[in-house]
Amino acid sequence: MSDTAFVQEETNLALVPFVPEVRLYMADDAIALWETTEAARGEIGLPPPFWAFAWAGGVAVARYVLDHPQSVAGRTVLDLAAGSGLVGIAAAMRGAKSVRAAEIDAYAVAAIGVNAEANGVRVDAAVEDLLDGDGAPAEVVLAGDVFYERAMAARFLPFLERALARGARVIVGDPGRAYLPRERFTALVAYDVPVVADLEDTALKTTTVWQLTPALSPVG
Ligand SMILES: C[S@@+](CC[C@H](N)C(=O)[O-])C[C@H]1O[C@@H](n2cnc3c(N)ncnc32)[C@H](O)[C@@H]1O
Repeated sequence: MSDTAFVQEETNLALVPFVPEVRLYMADDAIALWETTEAARGEIGLPPPFWAFAWAGGVAVARYVLDHPQSVAGRTVLDLAAGSGLVGIAAAMRGAKSVRAAEIDAYAVAAIGVNAEANGVRVDAAVEDLLDGDGAPAEVVLAGDVFYERAMAARFLPFLERALARGARVIVGDPGRAYLPRERFTALVAYDVPVVADLEDTALKTTTVWQLTPALSPVG
């Protein structure tokens, strides 16, 4: 079975809570889907099926982009660690010149394909790890929920700093994950985002949309 057929078989197309402009192929049960994914690949130790859920950080960035079209309209956009593609889809809906979605999970790339199609927009998704670069030529770099692991955060922040240094606007959505370096960001807005209770142990998470701001140089 192709990855695309697998995504469609194991999920249902539904409106995203808090972002009802967007429909995604989503799953109900993360653990069951994780096991099914490992069985389908014949491997254990695969990453969880992040692509089958709208994560709080992504929901908040999508809400922000939909409500602030000027943040993306006419610009080249990178949806970094795109998962379902929710953020990139929102950017495409609000007139981004182009949207590239980067993921390291092939199932996510398949999910982004069917999700973009379901919403009638174009998102160019690829399995790629861009974190050693600076995200060029994207003028806007969007990242939903990427600061939940120490090792990941240690690679994402320098990447985002390089994107900022070459002139990109960098926007991140985060529901209070442990490894977000808050001191480097300025809050744009915060929302109470409905989340999957089985994944987050709560029904609502206050989630902030942050903009990366230049670090202050030490006064010499
Ligand atoms: C919590 S999910 C967030 C997905 C989506 N942005 C959202 O908010 O719904 C984090 C995603 O980061 C992806 N990821 C992890 N490391 C990555 C990397 N180096 N490059 C691209 N994606 C990565 C994972 O595969 C996963 O889909």
